[in-house]
Amino acid sequence: MSVHPSEPAAAATARPALNLVRLHEMARRGEKIVALTCYDATFTRLLDEAGVDVLLVGDSLGNVIQGLSSTLPVALEHMAYHTACVARARPTGWLVADMPFGSYEADPRQAFEAAAQLMRTGAQMVKLEGGGEMVATVRFLVDRGIPVCAHLGLTPQRVHALGGFRVQGRDDAAAALLRADAAAMAAAGAAMLVLELVPSALAREITLAHPAMMTIGIGAGAGTAGQVLVLHDLLGLTTGRRPRFVRDFTRDPDAGGATLGVAEALRRYVVDVKAGRFPDEALHGY
Ligand code: KIV
Repeated sequence: MSVHPSEPAAAATARPALNLVRLHEMARRGEKIVALTCYDATFTRLLDEAGVDVLLVGDSLGNVIQGLSSTLPVALEHMAYHTACVARARPTGWLVADMPFGSYEADPRQAFEAAAQLMRTGAQMVKLEGGGEMVATVRFLVDRGIPVCAHLGLTPQRVHALGGFRVQGRDDAAAALLRADAAAMAAAGAAMLVLELVPSALAREITLAHPAMMTIGIGAGAGTAGQVLVLHDLLGLTTGRRPRFVRDFTRDPDAGGATLGVAEALRRYVVDVKAGRFPDEALHGY
C-alpha cells in the first residue's frame, strides 16, 4: 500500500455541492463515497478542501468532544448545536446528522419532530440506528421529504443490549437478521446505510442486493459503496485501544511513520478510499 505524495485529491473546492442525485451517480459508476465525522466549522472547511463527500455530525461527539464513555447521554440540542456549526461553514459535502438516543425511538411523530429540528439547523439527511422496528419511522420521514440514513451492525446506542463493541452478523442467524433489516430499510426508503463492524462478505452482499441504498462501511470491509471513520481516529487521536478497522492517517507508511499535517492526512484518506486502498481487507476487515 503506497500513496504517491503528489497524487491529487478530489477537486473539492471546485466541485458543485453534493446532493442525493450526485451521490447516487457516484455509487452507480463505482466511485467510492468518502465520509467522515465532523463537528465544527474549522474542520468542515478542512474536510471540504480535502474532498470528503459526506460530513457526518455523529453522536460520537459524545465520546470525542464531550468526554462521555458512550453516545447515550448525547441530547438533541447538542446534535443541533454541532450541526449548525458545520452547516455555517457551508460545505459542498452532503451533511448528515445523527438522531441521538431517545429522540426518535418512541414513534414516527417523535422522530419527525427531532429530525425537523436537525434539518432546520442545516442537516440534509438524518441518521438513525435500528432495523425492522424502525420501518414505520423511516417511511414516515422519507414520505415527508426527510432523507434517511439507516445504521445497522454494531449500533452504539444499543451497546449495552449488544454486550459491548463486537462484530455483528457473524453466525448464520445473525447474518440472516442483518440481511432482513437491510432489506427492510431499503424498502422503507432509506437512501443510505451505515454498516458498522460487519463481516466484509456480508457487507458486500448487502451492498450488491440494494443498489439504491448507498452502503457506507466502518469496520465492514472494502465492498461497501463508501467508507466512514471517526475524524479523531483518522487523526491518530483515539483514546484507549485503537479498533482494528482504524488507520492513523497522520503516519506516513512510506516515510517510516513520519507525522503528517491534518490537511495532508485528510487528503490521503480521501485518495486512499477513492483508489480502493483503504480499507485493506487483510488489515482492517473481519
Ligand atoms: O456517530 C458516529 O460517529 C457514527 C459513525 C461511527 C458511523 O455513527
